[in-house]
Amino acid sequence: MHRALHWSASLLLTVLASSVCLTHALPSILSPNASSVWTAASVQSVVWDIGEPDISPNAHGRVVLGYIDPIADEGGFYEYDDQPLSDDLLVSEGIIDVVVPTALPSGRYYYCVLIVGDARTRSEVFSIDNPVNPSTSTAKVVFPSTLSVGKAPPKNVSDAK
Ligand SMILES: *[C@@H]1O[C@H](CO)[C@@H](O)[C@H](O)[C@H]1NC(C)=O
Ligand SMILES: *[C@@H]1O[C@H](CO)[C@@H](O)[C@H](O)[C@H]1NC(C)=O
Repeated sequence: MHRALHWSASLLLTVLASSVCLTHALPSILSPNASSVWTAASVQSVVWDIGEPDISPNAHGRVVLGYIDPIADEGGFYEYDDQPLSDDLLVSEGIIDVVVPTALPSGRYYYCVLIVGDARTRSEVFSIDNPVNPSTSTAKVVFPSTLSVGKAPPKNVSDAK
């Protein structure tokens, strides 16, 4: 009897915990999106939807770049977690300017990830155009392990309005 009670209590806690997680889902990324083309070394804005509720006003986060390796067997998602494009953004601002790394092969392989604590949200897959590393056949594409991450320009708060 006691044991049954214990189990249902922990089940209830699990259900509560997962619904809490759901209501704290991160905002979706609006840009970059499937129609975006970023040129290497340019300054680009990552924009997310701050119209959604439940963003703590002081939440800080970071943006990293990911790619889908076209020749990997199992999905081939890779995210440059240790080389963020921006490592201390204010989530409530809804925008951060980043410098597009210069070490990447051209092509439609890339996405951005907004990371806040343990939660992450991914953009649509978009293209990077790198004049010094033009697109090649997908069978030959090589992704670098080290990005040349440029220093992000100062935050442009006036853009966030
Ligand atoms: C998609 O991204 C582009 C910039 O790359 C932006 O101008 C456009 O507004 C975005 N689309 C949506 C629906 O936010
Ligand atoms: C920052 O905002 C100002 C005023 O809106 C604009 O003139 C300038 O081009 C912006 N800078 C960047 C890097 O977007």
